[in-house]
Amino acid sequence: MANVVIVGTQWGDEGKGKIIDFVTDDADYVVRFQGGSNAGHTVVIGDKQYILHLIPSGILHPGKKCIIGNGVVLDIADLFAEIKGLEQKGITVKGRLFISQYAHLIFPYHKAMDKIKEERKGLNKIGTTGRGIGPAYMDKGGRSGIRMADILDQALFKEKLEANLREKNEILNKIYCLGSFQTSDIFNEYFPLGQELRDYVCDVSWILNDAIAEGKSILFEGAQGTLLDVDHGTYPYVTSSNSTAGGACTGTGVGPTKIDSVMGVVKAYTTRVGEGPLPTEFSPEFGEKIRAKGEEFGATTGRPRRCGWLDTVVTGYAVMINGITSLAVTKLDVLDNLETIKICVAYDYRGERLTKFPNSIDVLKECTPVYEEVEGWMTDTTQLTHYDEFPSQVKAFLHRVEELVKAKVAIISNGPKRSQTIRVSNHPMCNA
Ligand code: GDP
Ligand code: IMO
Ligand code: MG
Repeated sequence: MANVVIVGTQWGDEGKGKIIDFVTDDADYVVRFQGGSNAGHTVVIGDKQYILHLIPSGILHPGKKCIIGNGVVLDIADLFAEIKGLEQKGITVKGRLFISQYAHLIFPYHKAMDKIKEERKGLNKIGTTGRGIGPAYMDKGGRSGIRMADILDQALFKEKLEANLREKNEILNKIYCLGSFQTSDIFNEYFPLGQELRDYVCDVSWILNDAIAEGKSILFEGAQGTLLDVDHGTYPYVTSSNSTAGGACTGTGVGPTKIDSVMGVVKAYTTRVGEGPLPTEFSPEFGEKIRAKGEEFGATTGRPRRCGWLDTVVTGYAVMINGITSLAVTKLDVLDNLETIKICVAYDYRGERLTKFPNSIDVLKECTPVYEEVEGWMTDTTQLTHYDEFPSQVKAFLHRVEELVKAKVAIISNGPKRSQTIRVSNHPMCNA
């Protein structure tokens, strides 16, 4: 398979977890390179559902190795819960999961900061997941963060924690009028967790580069989506990491020349959780209908996802930013009973037709979508197993999307189950 990055092309929840699980068949290692437990990746195998937040979706394939890269911000309490949950379902994690010694850790004060900052923003809030992601990346950028290797050393961890709490408590007390965190409380909870994870910790960049040198295949698992990327997304309504393909290199220590292809996951319509622009958002009544059929509720927070038509201005932009070489189109079945389907092909901005995504919130706020309408297929597609069996309207829809976003469809998905995933003939998954 060579080395492939899989990213979301919209605002997250495109079905990356499901596609990564499917593609893992061809990989030796699956690696998360950014984000944290803000992610929620759902995989359904038979009648069992798994929701992964930190551990790569590849863990559901016995024998495959999974890695949490240095670009991830790691809440080890959440990680433990996730490991336990998987073990209870009969999945072996120990010996298959490796964690970068350079991954930054999330502590309770990061979550407290995340929540209070949101509260204080009032109407301007981002709508974060409250998992401490932004504050943890702030500490990383501010060079005061505590990394996985630090927590393994008792004296060093205590020293760093004390230094952090001196500053955080002052901010929490004086700016936000909140109580203090005690070093001993956090130390007593987290130091033992760190010790239990000791055997998982390693130098990820060497493991991966050695594996590549041996001809092994690496699958890089993106979290969030292109439009949530801190540089290329709808700033400030974004997450705090690079969720685009470039993050796979910085978040693991694998150089760009070692990446062979990039697959973009695109939902057949659009969803967004949290605040910020969503140009093709449905009317409340229609949105309710699609939300119910697509079960569009956040896997991490349970919040209802906002829904809209497929926006090819957005996905075309994602194809460019990520250098996408192929697409996986998910949730086609959710559109099964619509007579017509709209595709956003451009925006109207003060009378001007824009086909390039305007990455400015102020411009975006004034954009109205220009739609093309295609015929729906009005057929239950959930039982189909070969591309050839799909109605001509589905194929026409996919071809139009390919034309508009300038990338070929390699995989389609017609239900949440692993078995409801179809490789489209003529389009090799990797163009490597
Ligand atoms: P991710 O964050 O990109 O991994 O996506 P999520 O797992 O948060 O959200 C996608 C949701 O859609 C999950 O509940 C999946 O089980 C479900 N799903 C994925 N693909 C399909 C599909 O083709 N059809 C339907 N009906 N559901 C799907
Ligand atoms: P997956 O990997 C959808 C959104 C939040 C909020 C913004 C910032 O499942 O696709 P954060 O907690 O990261 O500071 O929140 O980003 N967000 C997601 N939306 N799917 C996700 O992950 C998300 N992770 C963060 O709702 O708008
Ligand atoms: Mg999700």
